[in-house]
Amino acid sequence: MPYAHIVGWGKYVPAKVLTNAELSTMVDTSDEWIVTRTGIRERRIVGARETSASMGIAAAKEALEMAGVRPTEIDLIITPRGPPETNFPATASLIQDALGATRAGAFDLSAGCSGFVYGLSIGSQIIQGGGHNVILVVGTETLSRITDWTDRGTCVLFGDGAGAMVLKAAHDKGGILSSIVRSDGSGGDLLIIPAGGSLLPASEDTVRQKQHSIRMNGREVFRFATRVMDRAAREVVERAGLTLDDVDLFIPHQANLRIIRAAARSLGVDEERFFVNLDRYGNTSSASIPIAMCEAIECGRVKPGDVLVLVAFGAGLTWAAASVADSTWGSMACSRSSPVSASGYARRK
Ligand code: ACO
Repeated sequence: MPYAHIVGWGKYVPAKVLTNAELSTMVDTSDEWIVTRTGIRERRIVGARETSASMGIAAAKEALEMAGVRPTEIDLIITPRGPPETNFPATASLIQDALGATRAGAFDLSAGCSGFVYGLSIGSQIIQGGGHNVILVVGTETLSRITDWTDRGTCVLFGDGAGAMVLKAAHDKGGILSSIVRSDGSGGDLLIIPAGGSLLPASEDTVRQKQHSIRMNGREVFRFATRVMDRAAREVVERAGLTLDDVDLFIPHQANLRIIRAAARSLGVDEERFFVNLDRYGNTSSASIPIAMCEAIECGRVKPGDVLVLVAFGAGLTWAAASVADSTWGSMACSRSSPVSASGYARRK
């Protein structure tokens, strides 16, 4: 049975930076509150000409170039995303066309912030089934376009960006070693965009009541997240026949530093082994894990052969995790501005 190896990775973040100081001129908040409660200092926001598809295309091109894979070799494109380019066609089809991936199937995946790990899990199982050789997973998010910029409980959290990975079949052991995907739809109301679907189609009323923006019960989502991060990480590690000690680096969904620290504590793992870059990007939902993984590799936090655990939670409610290892991870010197671990973050403050 072939393994799904991660042979290329890429990311795209918009140039525009929105700092906590700027946010505090828009809503009743402060840099101190945001940093203490979330760890976020700034986030990226799309410009007028940037969209979910344009960012996804940029991230995908970088990943394909690194992989040395031609677009015509791609069998399938999976695009986890929050707001799509349009309700249909799928954003994945727009990415497929722009890349010239003329042999590929393409579909979008809606699993909130767990979407990218869902995509990796599905992609790896399709490859293991022998049906496809090359699958591109592209997480892309324009959350700023569905944010209520008057709601301080949500607008300080999110950012825009995209990340992509190329999965390729190979018979040597490695790549995605194990994965899980889970959902508990009973918590769907805790994190929701109420209107714009078949239940509440767009109307003057839904627009007036801001029902096309994210609504969240932050406290409950926080509780849920701390519960499932631990459980999911343990389960994928066990499924891979490993122990927590075998994991070199955890790459958690970048939502809130306090959630990451709680997960580290509950797993009994040193915070140094959790990668953190949410201070510079905020929560980029399904793009957060591939962006973090790109940066972890770029700055030398990941060495060839290292075992990584990716773990995410999000709207649905959903959660997912994967254990991955590859001998192809690159290694470059860390720059001064490079991202840090959860405990490194505390020292840098
Ligand atoms: N600035 C200042 N004060 C604020 C802000 C803000 N930006 N936001 C909320 N507050 C206030 C609240 O109004 C409240 O005031 P009150 O006590 O007078 O009522 C107080 O701060 C405490 O509010 P809490 O909600 O209890 O604050 P908490 O410490 O839980 O932090 C937060 C809120 C950051 C939202 C946290 O609950 C959280 O991170 N939850 C998880 C969110 C998450 O990860 N969501 C993404 C899921 S992934 C996806 O699929 C998109």
